[in-house]
Amino acid sequence: MKTFRLDNALPLNTTIPEPSLICLIGAAGSGKSTWASTWPDTQVLELDRFRAMVSDDGGCQESTADAVFALQAVLEARLARRKMTVIDATNCEKSVRADLVATARRHGLPTVALVIATLADVCVERQEGRPANRQVPEHVVRAQHAAMVEVVPGLPDEGFDYVVGAEGISRLEALLHCVSDSRRADLGWDGGEGLGDLLLVRRYFGPEILPLWRWRDASVLADGDRVAEVRLGADSLYLAQRTDIDGEGDVGFEVLVA
Ligand code: CTP
Ligand code: MG
Repeated sequence: MKTFRLDNALPLNTTIPEPSLICLIGAAGSGKSTWASTWPDTQVLELDRFRAMVSDDGGCQESTADAVFALQAVLEARLARRKMTVIDATNCEKSVRADLVATARRHGLPTVALVIATLADVCVERQEGRPANRQVPEHVVRAQHAAMVEVVPGLPDEGFDYVVGAEGISRLEALLHCVSDSRRADLGWDGGEGLGDLLLVRRYFGPEILPLWRWRDASVLADGDRVAEVRLGADSLYLAQRTDIDGEGDVGFEVLVA
């Protein structure tokens, strides 16, 4: 794979300055969001996510102008606070990059172009398994890829303080730290209470249910099995935890009819 070691590029395996504005540059399917996930998610402004916020459809190209407008408002607020920020978008257009560099300059933050130079064929192949609204047509992916290759040498002149190739940075440890910090808190290894017997509940229903969930001492209602109450406002449901819901020993929950 090509590496981009320009005169002012960071040395390989470097640490990206903090705070800074990182602009990911890569075709659809190159792995931008995967790289972005190695930063805490509050630091990542993903254009597809803003498209979804304004239109309910992350693949809705017609909503791009509104999505960009909303993203810029958040970007301004973050950079004014000197917060590390990662822009997860293809950023293959010069005018888009120019706006990002100008915004960071105005707030006195350094800019990093993080180039994700995954082969065009791989980017195209990766479109196949995606939901229809997220599949980018092959000719568009190839055009984005060609644009990425073409712009790399000029990135320093566009005002980027650092230009790095994704293959030249180490982010796995950062990712594992993010992931393991929250797991440690779940387990109570950080000195907190941990989730205890709510771990199972979260695994089964997801995190949204936890604030509404109370285990109840009412096992008579469920032939000796554990009972929980889920309550929201005037609504409440009682669930029995069954240890063998399917005859194969799997744990499950059953709504108890009053
Ligand atoms: N992927 C992979 N190996 C990597 C990086 C990504 O196999 N080193 C896979 C991901 O699991 C995903 C696909 O490649 O299924 C695309 O990665 P993604 O991060 O979603 O690419 P983006 O560049 O964010 O694509 P888009 O611009 O369409 O959002
Ligand atoms: Mg993405």
